[in-house]
Amino acid sequence: MKIGILTSGGDCPGLNAVIRGAVLKGITQHDDIEFVGIKDGWKGLVEADIHPLGRPQVMGISKQGGTILGTSRTNPFEYGGVPRVKEVMSDQGIDAIVAIGGEGTLAAAKRLTDEGIQIVGVPKTVDNDLSATDYTFGFDTAVEIATEAMDRLRTTGDSHGRCMVAEVMGRHVGWIALHSGMAAGAHAILIPERKTSMDEICGWVDSARSRGRAPLIVVAEGFKLDVMDDAHSERGLDAFGRPRLGGIGDMLAPEIEERTGIETRATTLGHIQRGGTPTAYDRVLATRYGMAVIDVVLEEQWGKMVALRGTQIVTVPFEDALGRLKTVPQSRYDEAAILFG
Ligand code: F6P
Repeated sequence: MKIGILTSGGDCPGLNAVIRGAVLKGITQHDDIEFVGIKDGWKGLVEADIHPLGRPQVMGISKQGGTILGTSRTNPFEYGGVPRVKEVMSDQGIDAIVAIGGEGTLAAAKRLTDEGIQIVGVPKTVDNDLSATDYTFGFDTAVEIATEAMDRLRTTGDSHGRCMVAEVMGRHVGWIALHSGMAAGAHAILIPERKTSMDEICGWVDSARSRGRAPLIVVAEGFKLDVMDDAHSERGLDAFGRPRLGGIGDMLAPEIEERTGIETRATTLGHIQRGGTPTAYDRVLATRYGMAVIDVVLEEQWGKMVALRGTQIVTVPFEDALGRLKTVPQSRYDEAAILFG
């Protein structure tokens, strides 16, 4: 059996560990399994950019960030769709595809599977917002990086008596902000799931300062103030009617400074959170996913993906990952907020 592996969507620490786990499990336990690597996600599939993938290619890669296969956000349905995918798989003798990706990737995988193409999946997102699984690899690494950055911001904030605002990833959900904010002891955690007022934010800043602390705020990139709606972004304005220059952190910092009188600086961590070596936790989770997905292929469970439930790797349909994001529950936010003031 020939299995093609592809990584698609934003990169994520741990992708290489999945690839290695899958290849090593396949070739060491089954004489009749061979792998090929599909370059740059669905793009490489429709363009037939496909290469041998064996032990030499996966040696020592689980500690490497990024993906040795490359990635893209190409939608296969815009480049030939089902007929083209079937044609390339048949030409290359590929029996099944392991697609490693987030919601967009898995949605495309589901559509292709519905048309008879043999695909299984591995969930991936640093944001940890896929509802089918308790955790995704990459999230622990992103939280670790954000926490370390905030520990560093705190020492410079303390030295200058400044308020420090750290903007972290999270377009739709605040898991990275919640976990890194709790770990770093932030005085406020601002997440997309909970709109907040400037008065409330400045209250937390004032309260930290009154206790002699240099305030530390973590904000997820998708956070919105209570006065913000979609019209603000459509008009290219920030919540205060000014032209929007940077991210939400850059928008909040001058306003906090003006309202509280405390000098404030913002830092956007951006793609640093997705780069570099994965944590041990992410390597282990990703490796387990990679090994488990080979069983899903051999059981011919097309349209299914591996997922984490507690400590067990289970198999769930692609649908479970689609349509609704795993948001931060109010109870988790309330628990963290006890520590703000
Ligand atoms: O979905 C993961 C994510 O890291 C988001 O948190 C972030 O908004 C986005 O990807 C960035 O995407 P890109 O790498 O395309 O800029």
